[in-house]
Amino acid sequence: MKNIVPARRTENVTYAIRDLAVKAGEYERAGHKIDYLNIGDPAIFGFRPPEHVVDAAVKAMREGKNHYVDSMGIKEARDAIAKEAGSRGIKCDPDHVIVTAGGSEAIDLALTALVDRGQKILLPMPGYSLYPAVVNKLEAEPVGYKTVEANGWQPDIADIKRKVTPDTRGIIVNNPNNPTGAVYSPETLKQIIGIARENNMVILTDEVYHKILFDGAEHVPVASIAEDTPVVTLGGLSKNGWSLPGWRIGWMTFSNSGVMDEYREATAKLARARICAPGPFQYAIKAALEGTQDHIPEMNGELQKRRDIFVDGINRIPGFSCVKPEGAFYAFPKVEFPVADDKAFVLDVLDKEHTLFVHGTGFGHDDTQHFRAVLLPQPEVLERTLVRLEDYSRKLYAGE
Ligand SMILES: Cc1ncc(COP(=O)(O)O)c(C=O)c1O
Repeated sequence: MKNIVPARRTENVTYAIRDLAVKAGEYERAGHKIDYLNIGDPAIFGFRPPEHVVDAAVKAMREGKNHYVDSMGIKEARDAIAKEAGSRGIKCDPDHVIVTAGGSEAIDLALTALVDRGQKILLPMPGYSLYPAVVNKLEAEPVGYKTVEANGWQPDIADIKRKVTPDTRGIIVNNPNNPTGAVYSPETLKQIIGIARENNMVILTDEVYHKILFDGAEHVPVASIAEDTPVVTLGGLSKNGWSLPGWRIGWMTFSNSGVMDEYREATAKLARARICAPGPFQYAIKAALEGTQDHIPEMNGELQKRRDIFVDGINRIPGFSCVKPEGAFYAFPKVEFPVADDKAFVLDVLDKEHTLFVHGTGFGHDDTQHFRAVLLPQPEVLERTLVRLEDYSRKLYAGE
């Protein structure tokens, strides 16, 4: 029999965050203890979900709600999602909500229903790795728009305008942003909305971190200021203080659906074809959205402390600089000394310092001088990381 080759459409599907972890596993097997600053999973760093949310899912399972559910999501969850969105100015009918297997599946379904082979999707650069992975899988073209470090990683509006073409179907906005931690200003968002309206594009806005904010930063949902522009907003239970990434519960809400009814229906058709998102966990969505939110300020306070340790610390080390993130739980430092490339740098730090980051080009960044650090680890791990980075920079680049 001949060798079985994979479909060509898989060629450009990469997901740097997990691909590098395979390498770290080799070091673990060789007996080294690795500090993982690569994966944004709050649950593995000791952040616990609220008990009442866990109880709601356990209760559903015990009551035998272990069956398939509505492909769009159970009604009580869709009602709660639409109501919570409404409380933040996002107009959305509960029938225009789709509950998904994580925000990841929402990204996959929303893009699959939108873009044909060869068409274009604008996405932030640097940006979350799944967006280009899915666009590439669809044999469409991901087009990165710049976000500017000197401007707190805000999107470059002129660059977006330059890159729109007649076959650009949509623009992805991620606010707060992974990997930079930027929170976008309403002015910036309004300009993006204007571009989308003028060019008949859908805005896919990934707001899975909208509750994780520092220093009093304010999050403005795109859909709350989009007037008649079609917006698909992504949310979920993985982040945002619920810290339940293993449940695989996310959702998308369609706002100003009138001009995108056919698109929304196509997304719903794809959702029906995959049956449903995990059933019993959907019974916890109402509890998550309508129960106490006391855990949020607590988590944000803890994360802000960790952000300050890491970001203030790395800014004191010669050879590194870092913009202070205002939200989410990532930082995107710059390596100021010359490195062959960012992936080689990250692998070398793994080899010499046993700490794993993700290289900036893994997020589609357009220079090779950045890496992403997760801010979730305990303070002592972050302090140890800083000592190691200082050691690395001193030995290799200051000639000691
Ligand atoms: C910006 C962003 N969107 C979506 C996701 C996917 O999350 P999930 O599928 O767990 O909801 C992540 C995960 O890290 C993310 O960072």
